[in-house]
Amino acid sequence: MTILPSMLAADYGHLADETARCEAAGADALHIDVMDGHFVPNLNFGPTVVAAFRRATKLHLDVHLMLERPDLYAMRFAEAGADAISIHVEAPCDIAATLRSIRERGLRAGIVLKPATAADAVKPFIGLFDYVLVMTVEPGYGGQKFMADMLPKIKALATMTPKFPIMVDGGISATTAPLCIEAGATELVAGSALFGAKDMAAAISAMRG
Ligand code: DX5
Ligand code: ZN
Repeated sequence: MTILPSMLAADYGHLADETARCEAAGADALHIDVMDGHFVPNLNFGPTVVAAFRRATKLHLDVHLMLERPDLYAMRFAEAGADAISIHVEAPCDIAATLRSIRERGLRAGIVLKPATAADAVKPFIGLFDYVLVMTVEPGYGGQKFMADMLPKIKALATMTPKFPIMVDGGISATTAPLCIEAGATELVAGSALFGAKDMAAAISAMRG
């Protein structure tokens, strides 16, 4: 089980220290949320901050683009040192071409589904992505309640062939992680449950089950 702390919930005055804390706690990768104020009603990290994370750690950097036009910005994040970039299937741009351009740079390409988007939306792109990210809250903010009605979607994705990793993001905790794992999730993103824990290593172990 891959555990990715979401840096959205970190202390922004001490990002290098927070990165070191994730490493020491046994995180497998860092999840970095990028928001444009259009696709979601919030703003967050840009490419220069991803470059700062790159300087601070050798951990895999998983960049989640919540952008109206991920096609225009994906390469900026690749240049900044991302190892994986995920784009929303709902974004009004050429999704297949954007996934291809991410892979051509040698990065993992992910496709993300908002809560209202059905599992079948990934079907036209099977073979073009390396993982699916299922949002288990409305994207834009940390600290929201896990949407249990996303579990059937995870199950539906887990039955598709060929198989692919399934990442979940939003409201993941020691309580909700087992439900996602049971449904077929293989990678767990968690912000508030990890950064809010007194002992992040224990919180990560609890999520691994
Ligand atoms: C929400 C982000 C998440 C967020 C999760 O739009 O994509 O990565 O940080 O935060 P928690 O784990 O607090 O729900
Ligand atoms: Zn995210």
